[in-house]
Amino acid sequence: MFPPADPTPRALESLLAFWTDAGVDASYSDTPVDRTIAVTRPAATKRAPFAPPTATAAPLPAAAPPAPQTPIPAEAIDDARRAAEGAVDLAALEQAIAAFDGCALKTAGARRVVFSRGAPDAPVMIIGEAPGADEDAQGSPFVGRAGQLLDRMLAAAGLTGRVFITNTVFWRPPGNRTPTLAEQAACAPFLERAIALVNPKLLLLVGGASAKAMLKTNDGILGLHGRWFEWRSSDGALEVPALPTLHPAFLLRQPAAKKKSWEDLLTLVERLDRAARPG
Ligand code: URA
Repeated sequence: MFPPADPTPRALESLLAFWTDAGVDASYSDTPVDRTIAVTRPAATKRAPFAPPTATAAPLPAAAPPAPQTPIPAEAIDDARRAAEGAVDLAALEQAIAAFDGCALKTAGARRVVFSRGAPDAPVMIIGEAPGADEDAQGSPFVGRAGQLLDRMLAAAGLTGRVFITNTVFWRPPGNRTPTLAEQAACAPFLERAIALVNPKLLLLVGGASAKAMLKTNDGILGLHGRWFEWRSSDGALEVPALPTLHPAFLLRQPAAKKKSWEDLLTLVERLDRAARPG
């Protein structure tokens, strides 16, 4: 696949479109390259003819590597808490998030803030991991392929219009890598305020990075999904039952896991209906 046998601009454009469709929109190498250092080209030599692909297939580009964990930014968290507490409704909260400079993701290549979509008084709040490329382009969470699958599953479970959707961080991490604990911690006061304002009956934690951050655990999502936990706000004033489930992006790669997710959704609906029944 790479390099292409025919390295014309058209072939290269088509290859890039293929990778973009597959969700690969950034490329990383194992060793850092300092591009601030000017490189002098060696004296012009005759360009080697394009090498045809060798017998060994090039490996698939690796997913964005995890960012190194950095210390939890105490000052940024205090700033976020003050800004979040001053927000009297969801519109004010979105403005406060957009004005916040304490999360490193804001200046790491994201185009815009991605806060929420859905019913502001929804009984279910869905918390994903982080916006991806489509969300960054449109400014709304879960609007790409994974989000469309999520919407279809919500519709099948009778939850359309009964959810409020957001993420643990409000800017797209570069290369769609997992957000770091520091990035999630800086955004957490805003997320807590969103939970307080929406006041949902239940939380659905979508994906490992969401479940780990919200439940403060290192356990993997395959062990957590489908089990009820109690999410508590940092001051302990708010408690909401929380159900971790698999991420729809994972389901796109592993369709056989959809059964597990569907069972999780039915577990959620069953508890929601139980809570709504009189007596
Ligand atoms: N994945 C997430 O976790 N959140 C989004 O908004 C989109 C994809």
